[in-house]
Amino acid sequence: MTTSQSNGHQTNGTNGAQNGNGSSRYIPRGASGIGVHDYVPELGYREYWYPAVEDKLIKRKPVALKLLGEQVAFFRDTNNEVAAVSDICPHRGAFLSGGIGKGMGNDEFKGFITCPYHGYTFDGTGRCVAALSDGPESKLAPKLRVRNYPTRTHRGVVYIWMGITEPVPLEEDLPEEFFYDDVEVQTYVKIWPMNWSLTMENSRDSHNSKIHRGGIRRLWSGQLFNRLPAFWEGTDITEEGDNYICIAPRVKQGVEQGYFPGLKERWPQHDWWRFRGARRLNPLIQQKNAFNNSRPGGLYRLPSIACPSARGQSQHLRYFTPIDEHSTRMFTFALKRVRNRLLPKLWWKFFYHTWYVYFNAPQTTNEREDMPVQAVGALDPHSAQKLGATDAAIIFWRRRMPWKSRDAQRIWGRSRTEAAEEMIEIEEEREAVEIPLN
Ligand code: FES
Ligand SMILES: [Fe+2]
Repeated sequence: MTTSQSNGHQTNGTNGAQNGNGSSRYIPRGASGIGVHDYVPELGYREYWYPAVEDKLIKRKPVALKLLGEQVAFFRDTNNEVAAVSDICPHRGAFLSGGIGKGMGNDEFKGFITCPYHGYTFDGTGRCVAALSDGPESKLAPKLRVRNYPTRTHRGVVYIWMGITEPVPLEEDLPEEFFYDDVEVQTYVKIWPMNWSLTMENSRDSHNSKIHRGGIRRLWSGQLFNRLPAFWEGTDITEEGDNYICIAPRVKQGVEQGYFPGLKERWPQHDWWRFRGARRLNPLIQQKNAFNNSRPGGLYRLPSIACPSARGQSQHLRYFTPIDEHSTRMFTFALKRVRNRLLPKLWWKFFYHTWYVYFNAPQTTNEREDMPVQAVGALDPHSAQKLGATDAAIIFWRRRMPWKSRDAQRIWGRSRTEAAEEMIEIEEEREAVEIPLN
């Protein structure tokens, strides 16, 4: 059996990576071995709000979900608000939700959650208000608490704060369009079998030119018939804020096919159906009432929000809530400005439920095209990686964004000065790994 060993040549702690057969491999500087979890926490940043569950799904019976590696039980408290507590009973560790059992009797008292094992009962703040099997005079009950997680409900979605520091207002973590009065927000939730950060960082890279090139989903955006630049020549970080970056591909307009000498072929091989001006033929893609007209590119925003497109009549936004190392609760938010008018509202609902939900064909981070190549078993995030000019956003995401995060500021135990120095180092390293194309 081969054992992994250090060859002593690594230039820093992050450039070593293991190849598939388990032996260690030296990856020189300049051909980066940056891995998905160099600095990005595998179970997600803690000090943020995350979408957890749709409000309508929480009725009287508690619902258990694993989020950020922890087991959480949701139920309605005495104010009929959704409360979230650790699912693990502080008495002897049974799952309050019932775990693999049915949680018999855990909804016995409206507004409270009762452990199905010995009947210790907790309110929405996590206080133990009764210990049924220990009697009304229980000495233990007043001493027990189960961890409570702050929650907020906004537009039908329950958000949870799993951090260890004081929660910020929800408005600080959600993009502002979530709060516009004339914007309709639709949501669907799916489990994606992959780590949250892996799919997040893939939201805006050059796979767009390949895997998303064809496909019926390009019909509405007009791109199915439009002449498109064939490939990216790099990725630009077009704007950088405290908690986000904007990303735009560097493309050569008018270059719709490339000649690849190694293949002695042109690619894309066929595009006879594309013609100039196709985009203008589709009235649905006109940019009236568009969002983010001044945003220079797609968006990566902390802790885990990606919007692949810049402006548009609707915004397709993913919020990735980690479940564990290998799975993600993928919240897809589709936002559209309908100006509180009935017909546009109805049309948008129809369009959403057919195109987005039934045909499952929304843009650029989708279940049809992205999920199969990124899933556990299809892509090895721990393999050695070599990042090039089109991967700039990924390098930013893995190496620079973590130091901007609230976790870095609040709990990683570094001073801001140290973090700033680290960021400069990262910047220099980023320059070093970009491979010029010509
Ligand atoms: S383990 Fe929950 S009441 Fe005993
Ligand atoms: Fe994609």
